[in-house]
Amino acid sequence: MFGSLKPQPEDKILALMSAFRDDPRGDKIDLGVGVYRDAQGRTPVMRAVKSAERQLVENQTTKSYTGLTGDPAFADALGHLVLGNAPFSHAATPGGTGAVHQALQLVRMAKPDATLWLSEPTWPNHTAIAAHLGIRTRTYRYYDTDTGGVWFSAMAEDLERAAPGDAVMLHGCCHNPTGADLALPQWREIAEILDQRRALPIVDLAYLGFAEGLDADAAGLHILAEAVPELLVAVSCSKNFGLYRDRVGLLLALSDAPAVQGSLAALNRLTYSFPPDHGARVVQMILDDPEMRADWQAELDDMRTGMQTTRHALADALRERSGSDRFGFLAGHHGMFSLLPATSEQIARLREDHGIYVVGDGRMNVAGLRPAEVPVLADAIVAVGI
Ligand code: LMR
Repeated sequence: MFGSLKPQPEDKILALMSAFRDDPRGDKIDLGVGVYRDAQGRTPVMRAVKSAERQLVENQTTKSYTGLTGDPAFADALGHLVLGNAPFSHAATPGGTGAVHQALQLVRMAKPDATLWLSEPTWPNHTAIAAHLGIRTRTYRYYDTDTGGVWFSAMAEDLERAAPGDAVMLHGCCHNPTGADLALPQWREIAEILDQRRALPIVDLAYLGFAEGLDADAAGLHILAEAVPELLVAVSCSKNFGLYRDRVGLLLALSDAPAVQGSLAALNRLTYSFPPDHGARVVQMILDDPEMRADWQAELDDMRTGMQTTRHALADALRERSGSDRFGFLAGHHGMFSLLPATSEQIARLREDHGIYVVGDGRMNVAGLRPAEVPVLADAIVAVGI
């Protein structure tokens, strides 16, 4: 039976992860998968997570099932952090990927012939999950390679073509892979277009707190939420709580339709029954405890400012070496990623000649770069002629 299976296309981010692991060079640098590292190159367990886990081990009395959409206290705490006081339906999911997957399943359930609009470029798994679920996709132009910023006129023009009932995936902040985010007036314009087109926004919110802070990073989402009647948000706690392997995600739905909550519960039951609880409970405990919450926020702020410092240091180092401001956009980008304007040959030379691993499209995880590695990377970028 399984002889009929075809080799699956590799996910380019995960393929790079294994290539890095297999590279024996001691001075190799991993700027592939989106994982934050501190100045020592570690991805630490956050202090508040450690405290909450200690309390949980001490006080948890049962591992019996929670509800199909997870512990309501988790959805309450994280949902309010993300959406403020707007009422929402919800389903806890295994990570942000699970939330994106359940969002697309819900869209397909409601409208089997919906088209999903994705930014060009976007996180490759958006495209892959939609294809797996048999959802037709179209792309909207997003990134201007000449300026390193959002190509807003093209984006707006493309989204004007969305049909009623189409879904449009937007990145809430820290656009993956470009690092280029919409400004608030642009969010307003997109909200107006989607409302007029009666298209459903799906906001992938995987990096809340990594751009300018928790409130500022949710501002675009809040503009949308005020403007449109229905909205989905796929939230991840992988990065901002550092809970990568514990798989903590939440799908939020703003809608008056009575069957949304029941449909989310049914989709969870069909996909994996109960979502994982451990990490979700840790997040809920942190958000509901003023002391742990303040400590989490302080550590998150440090992570964000560390990333910004690295961005500025890299832009400065490249300005010095290239004698131009061509890489100035790196300092203005948000979050973990930026796209290097590089050819695939230049990316291959970074890897082969310099042991520097960047995703094939030029996506570089700035949050994985240690301060000591900034000059090494800048030298290599200039040496391969980017
Ligand atoms: C990334 O884009 O590197 C992360 O979101 C990790 C992943 O699952 O691809």
